[in-house]
This record gives sequence, structure tokens and C-alpha cells, in this order.
Amino acid sequence: MERYIEPFKVKVVEPIAEVSRDERVAAIKRSGYNLFKLRAEEIYIDLLTDSGTSAMSDNQWAGIMLGDESYAGSRNYFHFEETINDITGLEHVIPVHQGRVAENLLFQTIATKGSIIPNNSHFDTTRANVEYQGAKALDLLCEEGRDPGLIAPFKGNMDIQALKDLIADVGTDRIPMVMITVTNNSGGGQPVAMANIREVSAVCREHNLPLFFDAARFAENAYFIKVREPEYADRSIEEIVKEMFSYVDGCTMSAKKDGMVNMGGFLATRDGDLAERIRNLLILVEGFPTYGGLSGRDLEAISRGLREVLDYRYLHFRIGQVTDLGEQLTEGGVPILRPAGGHAIYLNAGEFLPHLKPNAFPGQSLAVSLYVEAGIRGVEIGTFMFGGKDPETGEERTARHELVRLAIPRRVYTTMQMNYVGQAILDLYAQREAMRGMKVVKEPAFLRHFSATLEYLEQEETITAS
Ligand code: F0G
Repeated sequence: MERYIEPFKVKVVEPIAEVSRDERVAAIKRSGYNLFKLRAEEIYIDLLTDSGTSAMSDNQWAGIMLGDESYAGSRNYFHFEETINDITGLEHVIPVHQGRVAENLLFQTIATKGSIIPNNSHFDTTRANVEYQGAKALDLLCEEGRDPGLIAPFKGNMDIQALKDLIADVGTDRIPMVMITVTNNSGGGQPVAMANIREVSAVCREHNLPLFFDAARFAENAYFIKVREPEYADRSIEEIVKEMFSYVDGCTMSAKKDGMVNMGGFLATRDGDLAERIRNLLILVEGFPTYGGLSGRDLEAISRGLREVLDYRYLHFRIGQVTDLGEQLTEGGVPILRPAGGHAIYLNAGEFLPHLKPNAFPGQSLAVSLYVEAGIRGVEIGTFMFGGKDPETGEERTARHELVRLAIPRRVYTTMQMNYVGQAILDLYAQREAMRGMKVVKEPAFLRHFSATLEYLEQEETITAS
């Protein structure tokens, strides 16, 4: 990859408190070894998520001062609407305060018990909102996307044959829409090729099925199309984004990612009837259709962020930072999900700590060590997050992969800080045999990873856990 350099300079700084190793040990014990329960001030580099953690530009902050807080018809809404119309070509634009509300309103409107919603991979909140309607959230990820070590350019692609087979099997009545998540967060932030989007769209149009993007990281996906799909090498990011959206009928969007803001989202569609039905629900839960749970100033910051994210130099820097961290780790022999995704590096904790079985939570052990030794917070995506008791059989389930996600906030950390992260992981890798397994000591009935408490296993328990 051609070198990147930060295409911005720093105008405001936020000091990071100094927290000693002893203080971190005390903090993580107090938190029951659950990184969600730390105070953020106890962290040096926070890679828990790239969502809502972006640094806004001076241009966005200037927009904040131009917020018009009228209840109805704020000028910032019209700017927001025009910007989204222009970038995506989607006509009806509905603001919401974050992505999952767009999902909730959409599935409440179109899904019923027995419906099936195919996606390359549903993000957790999307899946939950589909399932809440009694519908099935089906992942139809291509085979390459399911192999964590395989190097391939578009591991986020949908399996077209699987989609055709599904339609042939169940018919179109049970499929109210098809979705593609760009980039595919649950599958490692991997991109979807334009060729794949085009083909999925052709299948959907042939069967009269609406196709929607989960567009949270649409610009990062467009960057990968430009650099990995040869016929797009000379096309601008704007042109690529326009073409991507030309194949869909709508999108849900968490603007907390590629909207470059700390809060916000939207739903956009070509279907005026659908938009009207969703707006009727919006008034119940978010607000009047020209603000949808956001302030005028938030709408303005999103409108500006959506333009800034299309800058090739910014995307080259952003994805370069993530790619470089991946290369630093791979060169040092650290197992990661490859190739590096757009927004995050996923450490393969199962291979990093082969002496720990899934039910000894290798990902959680690694994430805790990374915090204790270096003040870095990532998030376990493995058996601690997805395991727990099967509600039907009562047996302990294990996840398909044991991963630790390190999501990189946009425009927040310097390249020196990213090098520090890489070096800290290499240092941990050298001491990996000393890392012990963990057990859950207290857990709630649902979504345990947010609040469960854990403890280390004794040495012998670690060895025998299976
Ligand atoms: N879709 C995708 C692909 C996401 O990654 C997220 C959020 C959402 C939808 C929901 O959006 O948070 O604005 O309600 N992902 C965050 C993450 C939480 O850490 O990956 P939201």
C-alpha cells in the first residue's frame, strides 16, 4: 500500500490521564474482569468501538454553531435531506438518533412472524430487531468470508447461489427484503464487491424483492472497491458510492460510523409509502420527521461528516492505519483475521492462546491482559459474548471463533499511538503461555457480556477446562 500520512492537523487536544499498572489491576478487579464496567478514564487507548467515537472536524464544529433548533422545518434538516439525496440518490430521508432505531422501525413495518431477512451477516442489533418481530435473520455470507485466515479481496460478499436457493425454497412471500451490510462488521469489517452488489440486486429485481444496505461503513466499502476492484481504480469515491446505492431501494444508517459524528443515524428509501408508514411510527418514539430524535446541530454535523468521509485522502489514511497495525502484527507472527478489515483488527484469540479451550474464554483473557499490561481496551467476540446456556438444551454453547476486536476510532489516535498498540500486542504474544483461563461467576439472563463478572481459573483448572 502506498504510504499514507494524516490529512489533517490537530487543533484541540484531549489529555489522557496517566493510570499505572497497579491502578489498572485494581480497576479491572473492581469491574469483575469485565471491560464494559471500567470507567473510560482508566483507559489509555480505547478500541472498544469505532462507533460514536470519531473526532469531528473544525467544519463540523462550525456547523454545530449553525444549528437551528426549531421543532419543525429546521434548515439543518433540509441540508441533511439534500446531502443524503445527493450522495445516495435515495429520495425519502428519515432521521433517527442511532442506527438501531432505523432497524427497529423498518422491521416493525415490513417483517412479521415467519418472515426471513437474508443478509451477508446481520449485525447484532439488526438480528435482534428482526428476531423481535418473530422473523428469522439469515446470514448468507460467501464461503471465503467464513475462513478467518484466507486472504481474499471481498470476504463480505453475499453467497448469490444461497440467495437464489432460498428464494426457490421458500418463495418471495416470506422474504420482505434482502440486506447487505457494507462493510460486513460481524464478518470482520470485510468489504462487498460492486460486482456482488450488482448481482444481488439483479436477483432481487428479478423477484421483485426490495434490497437495502446496512450502510454504517459505506464509504470504507467504497474505498475497498476503488483499490481492489480494477475497473473502479480511476473512479472517485463519490462515483463509486453513487453506483453502490443505485442498486438498492433503501438503507439504514448508523451515522456514528461513516457519518463521522458522535450520535445520529437515518433511514432512506425510494419507496414513498414505506417512508410514510415509518414516519408515523417515528413520531411515537423519536420525534417529528424533521428531527427524529436529533438536534438541528446534530443534523448539520452529520451533513458535513457525510461529505468529509468521501475524501479519498481521509479514507486512505484511515484504512492505512488499520492495515498497518494488521501488518505489524502479522509480521510478528500474531494470528489475526485476514486481511485486516476497514475499521478494526480482530485478534484470533483461539490461536493466540491455544492452551485455553473456548469455555475458558481465551478472548476475554487476552482482552483483560491487554488492558492490564498496556491500558488498551478491546472487546471479546467469542464464547463470552455468544456462549452461555442454550435456552432449549441448557448446555453451554461455544462461539464459532474466539476473537478480540480492536476497533479504531476515526481521526482520533496518532500513528505513534497505533504503533504503541501493535508493540503492546507483540509483547503480550511473547508472554502468551502465562495467560490463564477465566470463568463466569455471575451473569444475567441475556447479553451477558455487558454485565457478567468473571474470575481467573486456577492453573490446574485452566489445563483441564475443555
Ligand atoms: N449496523 C452495523 C453494521 C453496526 O456496526 C452497528 C453498530 C449498527 C448497525 C447499529 O448502529 O449503534 O448506531 O445503533 N455497531 C457498533 C459497533 C455498536 O461497535 O460495532 P447504532
